[in-house]
Amino acid sequence: MSKPVVLVAEELSPAGIAVLENDFEVRYVDGADRAALLPAVADVDALIIRSATKANAEVFDHAKRLRVVARAGVGLDNVDVEAATKAGVMVVNAPTSNIVTAAEHAIALLLATARNVPQGHAALKQGEWKRSKYTGVELQGKTVGVLGLGRIGVLVAQRLAGFDMEIVAYDPYIQAARAAQLGVKLVSLDELLTQADFITVHLPKTKETLGLIGDRELRMVKPEVRIVNAARGGIVDEAALDLALTEGRVAGAGLDVFSSEPMTESPLFKHDNIVITPHLGASTHEAQEKAGTQVAKSVKLALSGEFVPDA
Ligand code: NAD
Ligand code: MLT
Repeated sequence: MSKPVVLVAEELSPAGIAVLENDFEVRYVDGADRAALLPAVADVDALIIRSATKANAEVFDHAKRLRVVARAGVGLDNVDVEAATKAGVMVVNAPTSNIVTAAEHAIALLLATARNVPQGHAALKQGEWKRSKYTGVELQGKTVGVLGLGRIGVLVAQRLAGFDMEIVAYDPYIQAARAAQLGVKLVSLDELLTQADFITVHLPKTKETLGLIGDRELRMVKPEVRIVNAARGGIVDEAALDLALTEGRVAGAGLDVFSSEPMTESPLFKHDNIVITPHLGASTHEAQEKAGTQVAKSVKLALSGEFVPDA
């Protein structure tokens, strides 16, 4: 009897592949290439993706045998969960696999924006020894506003407490007592915007959060604010941020995610006071190994008809 087929549409760790290889036929495709993806899903039982593959109704229409779609990471915004459910396809992810890695990347961006690390590095590589131009700011005693006090937001808050920062957060779904336990004060969005010296975004991308930090919000912030977004592109409106940077209403920004990806050209990239990375938030060996093995195990359970616990 032939083995069930697992289609791997984006890079998956060797440890994850090893979990699958004994029991399944493992095939590969470039999930960002729709012309290749759509025929490739026709006769597979499971599909494994990361951010670049849009798993939507069109995919499920082509995938007559598909039983499970697995996202080797946290966010499910590139999976149409409703369409999957309609098509009888189970959706699984690896919700804790990369949270430490993502939190550490947000902090790396925050420190890089505070201290102009990439700018100084780039100038020195060009043979320019520019010290006063890249004078930065300290974190100690400053207020950081955490947008979204979920898994990653909490890890970021705990780590920034070690820098002696005041931490406020906006998250209407979290109890004030839980926040207080973490040493975090829950505030309204407007309070956060007016108080913060740094803002770090850890929200899911939903109808409510898309554009949550837009022109109105960026007119409320302190001019010395530095904004980090290592959550999802578009939560901080890119045109509004571009304008705020141009008009000097924001001192800097650290961005790992963009409204459309890959993003290699953007009006934002002209600003000297931004630090950008190409969606590297989950990109450590440790996180990729965890994400790969977690989703591979979930796929194995799902294809054996067993209960798939939250990872
Ligand atoms: P999570 O679900 O644990 O936390 C999200 C928090 O946001 C929750 O506490 C929730 O109550 C809050 N929230 C939801 N809607 C809100 C709203 N409208 N207003 C205010 N608060 C709201 O998610 P997480 O695991 O912490 O992930 C956070 C984000 O980071 C997600 O967008 C995820 O996709 C992204 N992420 C990015 C990378 C990367 O590579 N850059 C890696 C991992 C995760
Ligand atoms: C995630 O949601 O897990 C991250 O954005 C990482 C990724 O997409 O690979």
